[in-house]
Amino acid sequence: YVLCALPKMGFAGVNVTLPHKEHARRLVDRCDDAAVAIGAVNTIVIDTHGALAGRNTDAQGFWAHLVDASGRAEWSGARALLLGAGGAARAALWALRRAGVDVAIANRSGARAHALASEFAADAVAWPETPAALGGFDLLVNATSLGMAGQPPLAIDLSAMADTAVVYDLVYTPLATPLLHAAQARGLVAVDGLGMLIHQAAPAFAAWFGIVPAVDAAVRRHLMAALAP
Ligand SMILES: NC(=O)c1ccc[n+]([C@@H]2O[C@H](COP(=O)([O-])OP(=O)(O)OC[C@H]3O[C@@H](n4cnc5c(N)ncnc54)[C@H](OP(=O)(O)O)[C@@H]3O)[C@@H](O)[C@H]2O)c1
Repeated sequence: YVLCALPKMGFAGVNVTLPHKEHARRLVDRCDDAAVAIGAVNTIVIDTHGALAGRNTDAQGFWAHLVDASGRAEWSGARALLLGAGGAARAALWALRRAGVDVAIANRSGARAHALASEFAADAVAWPETPAALGGFDLLVNATSLGMAGQPPLAIDLSAMADTAVVYDLVYTPLATPLLHAAQARGLVAVDGLGMLIHQAAPAFAAWFGIVPAVDAAVRRHLMAALAP
């Protein structure tokens, strides 16, 4: 009912967050390719006829922040280990596969990792229990809830990762997770989850208002102040 009322109320669109993204995908009039593949809508744009266009800008945000924060634009042929098989993992996986990254997925529930791997032409692997299991990966992505406030930390030994590897934690509460501390201590590039949040908002804002907002340090500072406890 809320979504149906939006055009009459003069809205340009809305953001949709957990746990409504999958449901929103079924309620909109049409979807972009990313939303169809990921199975979730996080941005709704109301067109001039009042129709609801569903988009997924999470994947775009994930990718834009990776490129921005790592300083590496070309990832084709790189190897990534993706931890998790929920909604955030799906968005990250779509972006990684689209960029030609070879992805191995590990998840607590192995069956979910296998299902996701077959859907996106990736590999399902066992949860990395030994340091050696991380050897050979250029990128580690944490898309689980581990490390979030109130959850156990993601306890993983990064010692076998290559010196040039990047560690990307999608968790943004807290911003400095134990995983990112471990990556910094190991001298690896540590990428936090806040940039993904900002980068996914930029294309949504542009779609609603026709203005591409700057994604810069000032925006990040504002958001950090807003999220501060
Ligand atoms: N930075 C951003 O913009 C952004 C956007 C979206 C999400 N996120 C973050 O990404 C994380 C995941 O979100 P989501 O939406 O994908 O959640 P979700 O759909 O509920 O998926 C949660 C994932 O975490 C795993 N998990 C949960 N507890 C675990 C534990 N104790 N040990 C090992 N694995 C565990 C689950 O494994 P099972 O399958 O075995 O249950 C599943 O793979 C959250 O921290 C969220 O805040 C960040």
